[in-house]
This record gives sequence, C-alpha cells and structure tokens, in this order.
Amino acid sequence: MAFPSSFIEELIERNDITDVVSSYVSLSRKGGNLFGLCPFHSEKTPSFSVSPEKQIYHCFGCGVGGGVINFIMSIENLSYPDAVHFLANRAGMTVPDDRADDELPRLRRRMLELNKEAARWFYANLSGDKGAKAVRYLEKRKILPKTAKNFGLGAAPGEWDALINAMREKGFERDELVRAGLAVQGKGGRIYDKFRDRLMFPVIDVRGEVLGFSGRTLEDDAEPKYLNSPETLVFSKRRTLYGINLAKNTKRDHFILVEGNVDVVSLHQAGVDSAVASMGTALTTEQTRLISRYVKKIVLCYDNDAAGIKATDRALDILRNSEFSVKVLRLPNGIVDGKPVKQDADDFIKKYGGEEFDKLISGSGGSTEYRLTSLQAEYDLTKDEQRVAFLKKAGQLLAALSSPVEREIYAAKAAEAAGISAEAMEREVERAVKNRRRNEKKEYEKQSGQPSKLLQPRDKALRYKDVRSALAEEGVIRQIMLDPSTAAFCDLEESDFSSPVLWRIYSELIRRCENKQSLSPGAVSSSLEGQDAEVLASLAEKPETAGGRQAVEQYINVIKTQRLLESTDLAEISKKMREIKSNGG
Ligand code: CTP
Ligand code: MN
Repeated sequence: MAFPSSFIEELIERNDITDVVSSYVSLSRKGGNLFGLCPFHSEKTPSFSVSPEKQIYHCFGCGVGGGVINFIMSIENLSYPDAVHFLANRAGMTVPDDRADDELPRLRRRMLELNKEAARWFYANLSGDKGAKAVRYLEKRKILPKTAKNFGLGAAPGEWDALINAMREKGFERDELVRAGLAVQGKGGRIYDKFRDRLMFPVIDVRGEVLGFSGRTLEDDAEPKYLNSPETLVFSKRRTLYGINLAKNTKRDHFILVEGNVDVVSLHQAGVDSAVASMGTALTTEQTRLISRYVKKIVLCYDNDAAGIKATDRALDILRNSEFSVKVLRLPNGIVDGKPVKQDADDFIKKYGGEEFDKLISGSGGSTEYRLTSLQAEYDLTKDEQRVAFLKKAGQLLAALSSPVEREIYAAKAAEAAGISAEAMEREVERAVKNRRRNEKKEYEKQSGQPSKLLQPRDKALRYKDVRSALAEEGVIRQIMLDPSTAAFCDLEESDFSSPVLWRIYSELIRRCENKQSLSPGAVSSSLEGQDAEVLASLAEKPETAGGRQAVEQYINVIKTQRLLESTDLAEISKKMREIKSNGG
C-alpha cells in the first residue's frame, strides 16, 4: 500500500511481536518460541506460538499466522491501514501522509475505473436494443426495474466485441481489458468479450467499487449457468460477498447467506435486505471477517439439495468456535404435481413473500440442532442397533460443545429422539468428552513434537494440487528468505506455480529483493494479505538450511519438470526433459 516501506519496517521494529501479543495472550516460553492459548479459536491446550526471532506468530491448531500487523488486523478487526495507525500510535510514531488517493497503486485504480465504466455500459444496455433479451428475462424472473437499478444489473449482448469496442472508445487498452477479466485472448492473439448474452451482476464492495462481475446465462440450457470474473488485481472471490454493498446498511442483526445472485436480489426486493452470497465457493474465513464488521449473527440458507447440505456443513465448520451465533434455515420443499421439488430462497420468496421468509428465520435452530437433526435422519431409530449407533455418534457430536449446559440440553433432546433416558445419554456424552480430551492431548503432544506435519494449509482452497511441485516451490521461497542473493537465479513465472498463494509470496519476495527491502518473515507478512501471511508464517516455521544457488536450481528443476508433465504432448515432453537435464542437472 501507500506507506513507505522504510516506515513499515521501523513500525515492525518498534512493535515487538512478543510485547504486542502479550497484551492479548498470556505466553510462556518453550524452546526458542513462546506459546499460549490461541485467541482466534477456542482451545484448552496452547498451540499458538510466537517466534521473537522471526517476529511472527503461528497457530498449529487453526493455522492462522503472520507478522505483527496481521495480528492486529485480526485481533482488533482492523483494515491494513487502520492496523498500521494503531501500531504507530502504540509506538508513538507519526504516520506519513497517506491520502486515500495515493493508496491504490495505479493499476488497481485503473482496473476499478474500467470495471465501473463496464458496469455503467451493461446497465445502459437495459434501455436499448442490446438489452431487450435481458429485460425480458428480468421480467420472467420478476425482478423489478427499480431492483435492477439498485443492484446495477445489466446486459451483455450476444456479440463478440461489443464491450471491447465501447471500452476502447473510452480510452482503455486491450491489455487492460484482458487483465480485468472482461476480455479473453483467443488462440490467434485476438481478444473477445468474456461475457456474452448474459444478465450481468456487478460485484460491488463496501466502498462502492466494482470489483468484478457474475454473468448469468439468458439461455437456460447454456453452460455454465453462472460465469464469474477470474481472480484479478481487484477481484478475489474468497474475499468478497455478492450483495455486501447493500447488506452492510441493513438494520437487521444478522446476515443471510444464500447460494446465488438471484437469491440475493429477490430477497432484497422482498425487504429481506441482509442477504449475501459467495459466488460458487464455500464460505471462507475472509468472508466471515468481512461480515463480522457489521453483524455477529449469520443465517445459513443454502439450497436443500446435496450440494447445499455440503455447503452448510462446510460453513458450519468454518463458523465453529467463531464469534458468530449461527442459525440454519431449512427451506421446505415445494410440491409440483403431487411430488416434492427443491426450492431455493428465490423460489420461496416469489411464492410466499418476505414475511413468511422471516418466519422461517425465527423458527430456525442453531448449528447443534441442525447437526443433531441431520444425524438423526441418517438412522432408523426403530431398530435397536441403529439406535445404539446414533447415540454413539450423537455423544461425539455433543462432546465437542464447550458449554456443559448446552451439552445437557441437547443430550436430553437426543435421548428423547432415541427413546432412552436422559441420564443414559448424559453418561454417553461424558464418556465421549473424556475420550476427546485424551485425543486432544495426544494430538497436541504429537504436534508440538513435529510441527512441520501440520503445515499443509487447512483451507481446502489452499491444498496443493501438485504436492511435489508445491514442496519445491516452498523450498525456493525458503531459500530466498535465508539467502536473498539466490533470488538472482530464480526465473519462475506465475504459470510455473502449482499454487497461487506460493506465487504471490514468491513474487513479493522477488519484488522486495529488487527494492532492497527486508526479507524477514515479519516484514514480508506486512505486505501480504490474510491467508497469504498465514502460509508464509507456516513456511517460515519449517526447518531448512541455506543451500545457495545449487539448492534453488534443484528446486526449480523439479518445478519445471512437474509443469511439463502436465502437458500431454509426449514428444514435446521428452525434448524439453533433455533440455532441462542439459541445463540444470
Ligand atoms: N454459482 C456460481 N457463481 C455465482 C452464482 C452461483 O458459481 N455467481 C454456483 C452456486 O454455487 C451453485 C450454482 O452455481 O452451486 C447454482 O447457483 P444457484 O443460485 O443455486 O442457481 P439456480 O437457482 O439454479 O439458478 P437461478 O436462480 O439463477 O436460476
Ligand atoms: Mn435459483
């Protein structure tokens, strides 16, 4: 961001991570590191570590980590600039002038301008020939013109270069259109509009910037039904929620998470104005942090089909032990021709209206109730052995609850469902609790003995596609941190990386080498965002000895070979393999 790097480095130096963390967490020394109870998830045995030497923190339990700025961002729930001000204040430093105008580097600012122009153009199409089909579609979906305006919906006509031409006229370059994900480069180098014949939903952030787009097909059988902008300098699906620009103004005390863009639009139109959607990904921790700036209650309202149930389970996992109170809204099936059919939030609201939807919210139970009911549905409780199996599982489920009162209440419910006495059920839960503690302890001992085992990021989105390559990518990163002079031998490109997060860390390191900035983990973390800083912190915890140029080249060899193996042309592969061998090995 706009803060000069020398300032950030001094800021980090003057805010020793141990001092800062100590005012939130009580730490005790164990080896070179300090340990305490993680402030970001609930635990009984300390797995939160602080390294005074590296100036980073890392939790072996939940995977969070980063430098002192990341810590303040998370614990005080602040944006990056606000966290910098917070720490500057703490250390009695003056923040250099950072007028909002200079804050975004030029490229990002340009891309946001382009996105805004594109959104205006899509919207304007609704009043002309190019948008006639989309307007008919809006009518069919009962989306009113007023609502379309509110959301800035628009039309991408079924042409190959309508948007490109309109934006070129406004002075944007081909490259800019491609980089923003609005145009795609074809084989012959020509570019064409990415979004064609679609209803356009601009994805707008809390500040009103257009970050990207979702486009819904206007032909029901065309694939894919929803097309989203790719990840760009300004658009990251995992950090964004569709509808947050409007939902943030709600007077309600909860946000409602639904599956699709149309669900959000319909709910808002019916007065349920706190609905948001993640666009085709499971709920992420970044998204929950975004929500937590506004409300502390979440209602999950995914479709009642297999995909929706899975999405609900994953969201509950993310929200477990979070500060949120969670409800799960089960949408009833509709009946068509005497048969039950799946309904989503949009179907329901169109049929019954917002008030009925609010009644569903009031009638919804919390996550434990949801899990218990889901579990119950898996068993036939009229059969003895199935009842036993259900009770075992229910015991394990309830043992995970931290409140004894809650455990007792739900134990009674489970007991009633299975037709046994509440005492018997409570004994089962007690047993499961003891088991759990034993396992936690074992697990902890194992972990503190060999932390490196835990370093595969927990978040599914970060699980490496190609572990062999990813390990080599990690190796390159660690070598550069240990010995910046090795950066001179690194010629990796984005497409060489199997993992985007490792590419981002790598390119940040290279950038810092070029600008002669510090490569200490604490300092590097300050220019990485959330998850990336966490990954860096976990990488920095892995042992590695500096191997110089030779080690770096070996890693690069592995990476290039893995990339090659992905390609299918065998003749090409063997030719390239010979080249790699004769150059590097
Ligand atoms: N999806 C997506 N990107 C979006 C919106 C949705 O990838 N911007 C995904 C959802 O995660 C879901 C699927 O597309 O898995 C279908 O979304 P949904 O809203 O349930 O679609 P429908 O109800 O079938 O479509 P619509 O209401 O638009 O007719
Ligand atoms: Mn729908």
